[in-house]
Amino acid sequence: STLKVALLPADGIGREVIPAARAALEALGSDLPKLEFVDLLAGFELFTRTGTALPEETINALREQDCALFGAVSSPSKRVAGYSSPIVALRKELDLYANIRPVLSVSKDPTQKPYVDLVVVRENTECLYVKQEVSEMGEHGRVAKATRLITERASTRIGKMACEIALQRPRKHVTIIHKSNVLSVTDGLFRETVRRVPSLPEVNGKYDSIQIGEQIVDSAVYRLFREPQIFDVMVAPNLYGDILSDAAAALVGSLGLVPSVNAGDTFVMGEPVHGSAPDIAGKSIANPLASIRSAALMLRHLGYGKQAGRIESAVDEVIRDGTVLTPDLGGNSKTEEVTAEVLKRI
Ligand code: NAI
Ligand code: MG
Repeated sequence: STLKVALLPADGIGREVIPAARAALEALGSDLPKLEFVDLLAGFELFTRTGTALPEETINALREQDCALFGAVSSPSKRVAGYSSPIVALRKELDLYANIRPVLSVSKDPTQKPYVDLVVVRENTECLYVKQEVSEMGEHGRVAKATRLITERASTRIGKMACEIALQRPRKHVTIIHKSNVLSVTDGLFRETVRRVPSLPEVNGKYDSIQIGEQIVDSAVYRLFREPQIFDVMVAPNLYGDILSDAAAALVGSLGLVPSVNAGDTFVMGEPVHGSAPDIAGKSIANPLASIRSAALMLRHLGYGKQAGRIESAVDEVIRDGTVLTPDLGGNSKTEEVTAEVLKRI
């Protein structure tokens, strides 16, 4: 059997860190099925050259693969005619409805429990990000309105995903993040639907060992900064999840450490949380660890937990050892040197 992996480095440091993720997968050798890589095009630079940021061929080729690794895209902050972000489009095209972001602090002492060890599970397809915005002239000037969509279907499947992830973790705790004290209809539906997941007939008691709690979003952020150790799996609608997951990433130092996957029922795409980092692109100093950890997370999601663990332990050792690190972590090593150090330990 083979494992078909698409590589979409896209822009900036995406091109420097995706090769590191590939090398980590290859280093697992016979512990994985035979790997087949295919390089696919996407990104803003591609758009400026060809007029398209996400070619049809890329989407079609992706459907033939088992999984993918995405680097980063340099989306401009100003509107550019004809351009829209390929990563947002890919999540939609492949129905990657969950964005999963583990945030883990590695302690110098391997016998010590990590201070932060949580996973943000963000709904990826609805909420305010359905982008149904209108602006009209009112009596006292312009009025802008946005639609916020929450459905039982999407809330159920993200709830199941959160329970599935919690099941693999020692604490088996899920916290629902919401604001249903104010938005009782939309957030109310999200909260009630996720709460009901363990008792759904089709899950057959599978999630009975999971404890479900909840936290209002603003106090969740407060507690996240004061006592992050209370959280295990946090599940949230799209907008809260987006903000929470960046906030959680700040707890562990560098963006260059935090991985994610975009997951659906039939496809998974690993993606470091950071962007294309134009300020350091081309200097070979980008931290490859987020990207390498994204490859591990992708494997874990495909059911290769043991293999993912080998990559994750190697990364933890390199961080703990502390002598071969990129400048964002206070070191003076190059991307390739850090990658080589991880490969050696795999
Ligand atoms: P960024 O994540 O690219 O960079 C923020 C800061 O963190 C920079 O100082 C950068 O040098 C540093 N940094 C990021 N990743 C690093 C790594 N692996 N190693 C060492 N340092 C690292 O965010 P920024 O600057 O706001 O955005 C740059 C571009 O990236 C923008 O065009 C933005 O739209 C895009 N972006 C794309 C994302 C994606 O592809 N999913 C996510 C976030 C931003
Ligand atoms: Mg974000």
